[in-house]
Amino acid sequence: MKIKVVLGLIVLYIIVFSNACRFDPIDIDGDPIDTTGNPIDTTDNPVNTCHPDTVYFSRDVLPIFVSNCAISGCHDAITREEGIQLTDYDNIINTGDIKPFDLEAGDIYEKITEDRNDKRMPPPPRAKLTNAQIATIAKWIQQGAKNLSCNEGGCNTDNVTYSGTIAPFLQNTCNGCHTGSSAGAGIQLNTYAGVRSVALNGRLVGAVSHTTGFVPMPQGGAKINDCRISQITTWVNAGAPQN
Ligand code: HEC
Repeated sequence: MKIKVVLGLIVLYIIVFSNACRFDPIDIDGDPIDTTGNPIDTTDNPVNTCHPDTVYFSRDVLPIFVSNCAISGCHDAITREEGIQLTDYDNIINTGDIKPFDLEAGDIYEKITEDRNDKRMPPPPRAKLTNAQIATIAKWIQQGAKNLSCNEGGCNTDNVTYSGTIAPFLQNTCNGCHTGSSAGAGIQLNTYAGVRSVALNGRLVGAVSHTTGFVPMPQGGAKINDCRISQITTWVNAGAPQN
């Protein structure tokens, strides 16, 4: 009898506590999610390949927040200006006033589209987000602000060009901190000349591949994926052409 009571208590304990600690901000439509918050694909897409109409948080959205907002003195883990920390999915959802599916209800969309300089985010002298970046964030919110990632397939290093591969990548991942008067280390990554000089002096590859002796980039963000590093290295080794 005693044993049954003890077992019963253990089971109750497990049920209560395994659920109590579960924070589940994105499970809006009941999809199963894994421990990192990503939906577990149970239907027609077992390898979770990227879909062209879907915004993927880790690939498309997080780099924009990291390079434009999660900056020292702004919304990084230390400063947390106004309690807002925009460094990772959970913090963006919990502190960024994002209302899934509803663009106008939350604060972020209004701030990034604000015309008045004294109200807009990121504030001057930092550049306004590009229209493409604003559209990506808007679409992400309208699609439910989920923490999706996808399998980008094999790594293509065959047709790497400055205009098609390198510049768009830098724009979303680095340029919030590497443009204009506030550029980190004075390095401008929004002009070909600026990129070329750090490409040819080895700093670009050194920084993104976290090689000893270089400051690891993107600062405060996760290391970029190996495919991106290979593409950048391929382009640099080809002489950093303006193609
Ligand atoms: C959150 C802001 C931020 C982001 C995002 C960022 N950088 Fe930086 N970067 C800096 C700062 C600040 C420095 C100067 C660091 C120092 O000197 O301690 C710097 C330095 C560098 C350097 C010089 C490193 C060295 O050791 O000489 C390179 C190259 C660089 N960044 C490239 C990049 C690239 C490429 C990306 C995108 C993949 C990127 N950065 C993203 C802020 C950032």
